[in-house]
Amino acid sequence: MSKVLIIGNSAATLASARAYHRAGCELFIQGEALNPGFASIATAYNLGGLADFESLKTFTQKIKPDLVFVGPPDPLAAGVVDFFEEQFGIPSVGPKKASTILEASKAFTRDLVEKYKIPGQIRFKTFSSEAGIREFADELGGDFVVKADGLKSGMGVKVSGDHFTTTEEGIDFARECLAESGRVVLEEKLLGEEFSLMSLCDGEHALDLPAVQDFKRALNDDQGPNTGGMGSYIDRGASLPFLKPEDLALASEITQQVLKAMKLETGLPFKGFLFGGFMLTAKGLRLLEYNVRTGDPETITVLSVLKSNFFDLSMALVEGRLNEMKLELEDKAAVAKYIVPKGYPEIRHGGAILQLPTLPPEVEAFPAWVEQVPEGLKMIQGGSVGHRALALLGKGATLTEAEAAVEAVAQKIQGPFTHRSDIATPATIAKKLAHMEALRKRA
Ligand code: AMP
Ligand code: GLY
Repeated sequence: MSKVLIIGNSAATLASARAYHRAGCELFIQGEALNPGFASIATAYNLGGLADFESLKTFTQKIKPDLVFVGPPDPLAAGVVDFFEEQFGIPSVGPKKASTILEASKAFTRDLVEKYKIPGQIRFKTFSSEAGIREFADELGGDFVVKADGLKSGMGVKVSGDHFTTTEEGIDFARECLAESGRVVLEEKLLGEEFSLMSLCDGEHALDLPAVQDFKRALNDDQGPNTGGMGSYIDRGASLPFLKPEDLALASEITQQVLKAMKLETGLPFKGFLFGGFMLTAKGLRLLEYNVRTGDPETITVLSVLKSNFFDLSMALVEGRLNEMKLELEDKAAVAKYIVPKGYPEIRHGGAILQLPTLPPEVEAFPAWVEQVPEGLKMIQGGSVGHRALALLGKGATLTEAEAAVEAVAQKIQGPFTHRSDIATPATIAKKLAHMEALRKRA
């Protein structure tokens, strides 16, 4: 039985852990909190920092894993993949530290796309001082986006009209970014529908998982603050209702080109997940960003339809044989919705108890920032503000079926919890289609 060490304790990391479990692996977890979702599938659970090298070393010497899987970005950026290779010769699903710059630096990504003439580029400029910022903001007609240059998972991006209303406010945020990291990116504001494409990458070849859309805002109709993600959906056929085959093909091509460019630019083959964020606009497909890992909550829906053996895919990834692999997917739609404390992301309700109703066979729960107590699942007190309780995943022959299944369970949850009831509903999907249709007509 192959042993996999999983680093991370989020609901999305649990989705990967369950895929390894389905593949017949023995699992070991390094987590910051004791997520009960891992309990029934893991042989051992080591409580410790995700990039605590001493703790990882002791655990690794004891369990002797064959493979390491890294969920969240911080341990990747801290160099855990390099650590396992150098100290133990153990391969990881995840890029080395030097490659994480693709996610950490918005400027690096835009420059890379520019230098290698990769499609999907937009108007942008990087600044290391205030000089020229106002001129560029004016040049973009006041419709611009300000991006901090650093790992801030969505919180470091402000969009005109959404997060600031005047050019002055946008420039103020750019100043803050400069003070923090010495660099800031300004770019044109795009209008369209966003989606993500996650691809397994072995340094040379990329194997795309189904396209997925997530919901970042806290409240229905995309109102309220940005969050770590309120849910996601995938459709049958590995695409999304508003995407044409050529849109998806171009996103895939951009990822292939970024993979090649990364090797040329850093000298390192990129082994792990490339997770591209794209916007389909009236003028075509544009690139927003790359992450170097699996997405949360994207992974929950995407891996739920994976029929291929995830361990075999992972070994092909580390050994550079992904070109020999073919993805087998269940022909189903899937919808995930996060159950969050009421008032999330500002309020946490630490200690609140969530009682999970009996789940029908088509619905699965992915605990997140909760611990198991006799009364149910208890929201963990500590940690940063803004943790989610649990994700519910529904699968079905259609999106409508999958959404209805998950919503029915979500409605039954009592206490100080809430969720977005509009994620992937027929009305929401129709709205997205109409939005794209209207934009295409305007082009
Ligand atoms: P990023 O971390 O670069 O994906 O940005 C976070 C979010 O900000 C994206 O998911 C979009 O919703 C939004 N965003 C980023 N760049 C742009 C852009 N150029 N135009 C409009 N919205 C954007
Ligand atoms: N859903 C966005 C992320 O994982 O960063």
